[in-house]
Amino acid sequence: MKVIQVGIGGMGNAWLSAVQRSPQVEFAGFVEIDADIARAQAKIYGLDKSRIFDSLPGALQQVEADAVINVTPPQFHREVTVMALEAGLPVLQEKPLAGTLEDARAITAAADNTGVLCSVAQNYRYRPLTQTLKLVLESGELGAVGAVAVEFFRGPHFGGFREEMPHPLIVDMSIHHFDLMRHFLGGDAKTIQARSWNPPWSWFAGDASASVQIGFADGVQVAYTGSWCSQALETSWNANWRFECERGVLLARDDHVTIQRLLRVKEGLRGLANVHDEPREVPLIKMEREGQDYLLQEFYEAVTQGRPAATTAQDNIHTIELVFGVVRACKCGLPVRL
Ligand SMILES: NC(=O)c1ccc[n+]([C@@H]2O[C@H](COP(=O)([O-])OP(=O)(O)OC[C@H]3O[C@@H](n4cnc5c(N)ncnc54)[C@H](O)[C@@H]3O)[C@@H](O)[C@H]2O)c1
Repeated sequence: MKVIQVGIGGMGNAWLSAVQRSPQVEFAGFVEIDADIARAQAKIYGLDKSRIFDSLPGALQQVEADAVINVTPPQFHREVTVMALEAGLPVLQEKPLAGTLEDARAITAAADNTGVLCSVAQNYRYRPLTQTLKLVLESGELGAVGAVAVEFFRGPHFGGFREEMPHPLIVDMSIHHFDLMRHFLGGDAKTIQARSWNPPWSWFAGDASASVQIGFADGVQVAYTGSWCSQALETSWNANWRFECERGVLLARDDHVTIQRLLRVKEGLRGLANVHDEPREVPLIKMEREGQDYLLQEFYEAVTQGRPAATTAQDNIHTIELVFGVVRACKCGLPVRL
């Protein structure tokens, strides 16, 4: 399968490497609007400079491609992805599906109208930690989930669009954790209460901290606290998770998974008391491919063999609705229903 990668700086590095590692996918061409980045990346990755174009229409005229990988910043997602879909080319699209709800709906409508695949790179789903949590939850060992607490604290200095945009934490980062909530709980968010703020020392223009309460189907409540301007003792990018379940607790702390099960309830001297087994660390599962490699292979199989892709635009629009629902709840200070 031959692909055109649009945007080869920044996160484009991860996709250049993933395609170069793939035995099934190769490059038809590239689109990059920054000539310095184009020159530098051509040298680092040994790219054919004659196949680097400064616009997608230019690339589409000059090279034969089967698909497009869109790694541009969010404000360009709609323009690039809709153009590719309308040209009949399936798109593997970096998250977020788009920078606004309106753009995300336009991309989903284009995928519906053209019948061409648009797959969204929610790479956090395809990591050993998150796959291990999903397996434990699906095994039924701990019974139903009643509540989830998620904590995410980091202090990255990215520069670029993230430090200028409104709600950088929620729109650019928490989107991964919100998408994971949908993945783990197997349903969509129904209600949201949220507050966001910017600590005085924040280097982001938009709010870098948030506290969010999300109600999922079946009444499961998720309490999410996060910050992108934490100054020390950072959590993992995957966040820390605590699942309160019917028959025990599942924890992810610093990328280690632990479970403790309720064995029985006994009669004690002071009334009833829960009896637990010893907390047990769950080894992380081994994955043949992770992150971008997993997504690229899934996209390849979907395009060439018609196998279903998990995070299509039509599915991912629910993650985007949750993200922008949280933004709306932060702005209005009132509960929001989705
Ligand atoms: N999944 C993840 O873990 C993850 C991590 C980082 C970034 N991302 C996503 O990747 C996307 C890109 O983010 P980034 O950090 O690489 O941004 P960036 O600004 O660092 O890099 C974007 C690249 O695209 C180029 N570009 C911009 N507009 C273009 C256009 N219209 N046509 C062609 N090239 C264009 C830029 O010159 C640059 O080389 C965003 O949607 C971001 O949210 C995802």
